[in-house]
Amino acid sequence: MSKKAAAKKPAAKKKPAVASKNKSLLVENRVFKPNPEFVKQARIKSMAQYKTMWEESVKHPDKFFGREAKELLWQKPFGKVHEWKCPNSKWFVGGKLNVSENCLDRHIHGARKTKAAIIWEGEPGEKRVLTYQQLHREVCRFANVLKRNGTKKGDRVIIYMPMIPEAAVAMLACTRIGAIHSVIFGGFSAESIKDRVNDCQAEIIITADGGYRRGAIVGLKKNVDDALKGKDTSVKKVIVFKRTGQDIHIEEGRDVWWHRELEYVDAKCPAAQLDSETPLFILYTSGSTGKPKGILHTTGGYLLHSYMTCKYVFDLRDDDVYWCTADVGWVTGHSYMVYGPLAMGATSLMYEGAPNWPENDRFWRIIDDYKVSVFYTAPTAIRAFMKWGDHWLKKHDLSSLRLLGTVGEPINPEAWMWYHNLVGGGKCPIVDTWWQTETGGHMITPIPGATPTKPGTATLPFFGVDVGIVDDLGHEVPANEQGKLVIKKPWPSMLRGIWGDKKRYQETYWSDFKGWYFAGDGARRDKDGYIWIIGRIDDVLNVAGHRLGTAEVESALVSHPAVAESAVVGRPDELKGQGVVCFVTVKEGIKADRSLADELKAHVRKVIGPVATPDEIRFAAALPKTRSGKIMRRLLKQIASGETLKGDTTTLEDINVIAALSAASGED
Ligand code: WT7
Repeated sequence: MSKKAAAKKPAAKKKPAVASKNKSLLVENRVFKPNPEFVKQARIKSMAQYKTMWEESVKHPDKFFGREAKELLWQKPFGKVHEWKCPNSKWFVGGKLNVSENCLDRHIHGARKTKAAIIWEGEPGEKRVLTYQQLHREVCRFANVLKRNGTKKGDRVIIYMPMIPEAAVAMLACTRIGAIHSVIFGGFSAESIKDRVNDCQAEIIITADGGYRRGAIVGLKKNVDDALKGKDTSVKKVIVFKRTGQDIHIEEGRDVWWHRELEYVDAKCPAAQLDSETPLFILYTSGSTGKPKGILHTTGGYLLHSYMTCKYVFDLRDDDVYWCTADVGWVTGHSYMVYGPLAMGATSLMYEGAPNWPENDRFWRIIDDYKVSVFYTAPTAIRAFMKWGDHWLKKHDLSSLRLLGTVGEPINPEAWMWYHNLVGGGKCPIVDTWWQTETGGHMITPIPGATPTKPGTATLPFFGVDVGIVDDLGHEVPANEQGKLVIKKPWPSMLRGIWGDKKRYQETYWSDFKGWYFAGDGARRDKDGYIWIIGRIDDVLNVAGHRLGTAEVESALVSHPAVAESAVVGRPDELKGQGVVCFVTVKEGIKADRSLADELKAHVRKVIGPVATPDEIRFAAALPKTRSGKIMRRLLKQIASGETLKGDTTTLEDINVIAALSAASGED
């Protein structure tokens, strides 16, 4: 772009930096003690109790977790609680259990038999309730459908479904027979499905004709068809649930309808006896290379941790109506919509669609309609609601709420206060839970009846979690200084590996600090020992609580014929936490204009999926590089956020590149 064009760019267009919001971290220093009403019924009622339990959990993990694990249903008791040879962890050695049996069979003999396991609302407004008994029946029947279609223990099953109860049924049915599921979020493209299918060599895909999102139909089956084009696929069968009823292609011999298949099976399906370390699921997540990582979780440890955190962090009760707004395609939907709450015998609410459909009050309407008592959502959603205005929420009675939670990114104190005052009516504890796909469940979080909270911090470690905040040499940094977040001890629900890539597992998580897990996040501890997460310090972005690798977006961009080179960075975004800014150089003779920018955005959507849509494409004559040819992302980040350039530029190969980039205006 010419300098003239840059000069025309109105200053107001610059996005406000999150840094200015974070100033309130310093201003908002009130401490919120647990509400005495809440404490009365809480499982953990004081800091002293939390501390005693935490001490035991890290000093004598075998005793602590051995005792907790007895609350699960074991077909064969475990011997040793834990075996650790870095980076390989085994929990509840020799024990046998089944996740679906723990989540279902355990509850269908007593009073919970007719209790709602899943309450579901579709985006168009349909309502369904599945009791524990009904869910058990559906899972058993569908497990038989899987068997009928050739699925065996250890086979990989891709689930690409809308947010309907059948997504949970499919997951639980896999666990019943020991098949390994890999759920793919509906916002991923055909190409992303293809990559994942190939990586884990899946034999079966479970999908639906479509799903509803903001009034429109998402063509899920069409994406699956596109993903399976060509002859080299491992997929033998596609099971299709009829959700929208639109016309779809049915491939004879490969595709079968869910409802038809049910006609051939009965409702008896014994739960397979599975070793505690049997692979449970693979969930793909972004890393710092272009290829997503298949994070592997196994049976006993994962189930225990999701169960225990629902018990102690959400403090779930039999009469709670619990709602986690995450999609099943993310780990939050696994641990905190399906496995944790069902293992607890709780009622888990599931909503199919967008928070602003048909109007901006859909979430509040649902809370009011079903008298939701525990609500778990993401800061990005809270900020969107704040922006839409308080009147949407004031139309509804939210007094049924007793506990609130957040996850996915640091919550800015304004959003925390709004959540506390307007959603929680000033009375609900807020649990700001830090964890990751890799950790399987909450790692740093308040305990609601015990931990005094401060807006913006996830506070203190959960049981068994030994956190360090260290410099590059592994020394603990002083209070209030930023360091790298590490976990010094293995924990039951830690990832067991990256599917098919031992080397990457070792290198990504266990190589920066010997024997410690490096999380990829920066953090600091305040004088009270509270942990403030700063965010990713690797090349991973957090866009609206979703993880996105910059390298993935870059490789999508360079796969377009017009693109010579690209560098993708995040910039602070008021709503989404981070926005995606792409610096692009085009090939000789290509015109870098607005229509190409639009085309590139569409291209990234096609390659990765709508989740990865760039916010801005910036064309540049060249990218800033060190003399050894490494792109200087630090500088690009500063340029993308409109900051003045700081730090060392002496290694820069051509200083003029920076001047040109700073002057280049964005395309939006
Ligand atoms: C990354 C993990 C865990 C399920 C959702 C995301 C960020 C997560 C918090 C929090 C600050 C948070 C971290 C982490 N993150 N929760 N409470 N406060 N940051 O799972 O896609 O695996 O992403 O999300 O940066 O590393 P994920």
